[in-house]
Amino acid sequence: MTNILKLIEERHSSRGRFDLERPVIKQDVRQILEAARWAPTAHNMQNFEILVVDDKKLLEKIGNIRSPLSDEFVRENYQQLSFSEKELRQKKVGLLAKMFPPSWTDPAMLDEVVRESRARSLQETIKDGPMLLIVIRDSRKRAPASERDVLGIMSLGCVMENMWLMAQSLGISFHVVSAFSASAVEEEVRKLLDIPEYMKIDFACRLGYRISAPTKYVRVRRNVEDFAHYNRFGNKQRMLIEQ
Ligand SMILES: Cc1cc2nc3c(=O)[nH]c(=O)nc-3n(C[C@H](O)[C@H](O)[C@H](O)COP(=O)(O)O)c2cc1C
Repeated sequence: MTNILKLIEERHSSRGRFDLERPVIKQDVRQILEAARWAPTAHNMQNFEILVVDDKKLLEKIGNIRSPLSDEFVRENYQQLSFSEKELRQKKVGLLAKMFPPSWTDPAMLDEVVRESRARSLQETIKDGPMLLIVIRDSRKRAPASERDVLGIMSLGCVMENMWLMAQSLGISFHVVSAFSASAVEEEVRKLLDIPEYMKIDFACRLGYRISAPTKYVRVRRNVEDFAHYNRFGNKQRMLIEQ
């Protein structure tokens, strides 16, 4: 039990550059895919397919795809930032402003950030890396009566977590990239990799080994008491003794 919680706690996002000369070995990729295979899915639909991309030319082409930032993303991202470690530790949710380029953290610059991002390519997000897993959802499958395929989308979250934990246990760095699901990016990736129309790209993951030591960053979480309620919403009586 303790080991599972330790693995869950140690799982983290690796957003830096990965070593292009150090590929992820096939047996490890296979293990990560086995973890995906056993993920729970609503109605056991298994509504996903995964493209493993390690072809250098294809990775380069994917990197060249335009990936502009939307006004919505830039503004909502700004609103959710913390501007000091102290603020982040107090809030216990969200991200530190210093993880982003300075212009993204200045409200006066946001319009310009969006304008300048028109020329932005996916490469800026995926950086260097030897492998991408592109996780796609079969829109033809739907758990019974699942509105807007919400159960199907949740199922892909389970696939994500299973793969991430397996990668963590193998010492492989893992970075989720949501930008692949933006319609303009999705369209281009779809063409490049022959993905049929009915498959929706939900996310991609970069896999590899970091070039440099991990940058230390504050990881915050709410306490159990912050989100758990005992029998009735709002009843904060402590039900479990803190470790
Ligand atoms: C559905 C989902 C989408 C995410 N998309 C991105 C993303 O596009 N880029 C990124 O750097 N991290 C992404 N993340 C990672 C989260 O930002 C990260 O898990 C969170 O900040 C907690 O940090 P940790 O993973 O280091 O514990 C995503 C995570 C989830 C679950």
